[in-house]
Amino acid sequence: MKIKKLPQITATVLAIFFAIFGGCKKSGDAPANNSNPPQRQFTIGMSQCNLGEPWRVQMNADVTAAAAKHPELKVIFKDAQNDTLRQRSQVEEFVSSKVDLLIISPKEAQPLTEPVARAMDAGIPVIVLDRKLLGAKYTCFIGADNKKIGKAAGEWIVKKLGGKGTVVELMGLQTSTPGQDRHSGFLEGIAGSDVKILFSVDMEWLEPKARSEMESALSRLGNIDLVYAHNDDGAHGAYLAAKAAGREKQMKFIGIDALPQEGVAYVQQGILDATFQYPTGGPEAIDTALKILRGEKVPNEIILGTRLFDKNTATQGGVELK
Ligand code: FRU
Repeated sequence: MKIKKLPQITATVLAIFFAIFGGCKKSGDAPANNSNPPQRQFTIGMSQCNLGEPWRVQMNADVTAAAAKHPELKVIFKDAQNDTLRQRSQVEEFVSSKVDLLIISPKEAQPLTEPVARAMDAGIPVIVLDRKLLGAKYTCFIGADNKKIGKAAGEWIVKKLGGKGTVVELMGLQTSTPGQDRHSGFLEGIAGSDVKILFSVDMEWLEPKARSEMESALSRLGNIDLVYAHNDDGAHGAYLAAKAAGREKQMKFIGIDALPQEGVAYVQQGILDATFQYPTGGPEAIDTALKILRGEKVPNEIILGTRLFDKNTATQGGVELK
């Protein structure tokens, strides 16, 4: 059939017919954008060492909020309830269920090193968040510099005490790297001054334990100028013990974490004298996970910044530590 030979009117009718019905899709057809294949879905396993502390609840909330912006991501959370053996087996469960990527915020360095290495051997990329492991068999570590924070706390204390005074140190779990680094950094920060540590004890990051250790420090020691706790929960526990003994006005209290609703609020209420921010790294973990899952290269370490909140700076969002 030669279209050219058709009368003009027939050609026009055919053109209208194809314009209306030619592009219509049948109900069983693929979607209009079938040139783009459907987006691949990824499952991330998130192993959280505990949810008993507000900072960790915030970390999971930050991960959830960041992941919600990416419909291709699904995050499955497991809470180890501050039990290392439970965290080890939860990591193993994630490996056997073949998640696409693992994020772990480990309770302790040594016992979690091996299960993470096995995840890597199984081809699962791992992001280590906040507390470190031994060695470097993981894809990327994300966290702030705890040694730097401890040193800044030491220097701040030397300045506030005029170079001289007595300190109680309530340390974070000493089998976890932030506890070790916040202690060694602090020693560097006070080196060469007349600030003396009278009592230094592991309160394992826990407010009730910090409170009872502070009770024994108060019963044994006369003059205490300052309490340096490795987190705000610990500093708050110490404050409550000193308040119960009627001694809270005789000393300063310093913590670390600076959650707006916790440490920063304590500074604004006059309970703490200062807190140093320790970001959760949740948003950065999701950013990095996406890059890894898309096959992009990521650095081995992402070191997050920190801010000081004290009486002078708490209402203005703190000041960045250089
Ligand atoms: C919560 C916490 C924080 C602290 C961090 C260190 O478990 O104790 O308060 O900054 O862990 O790993």
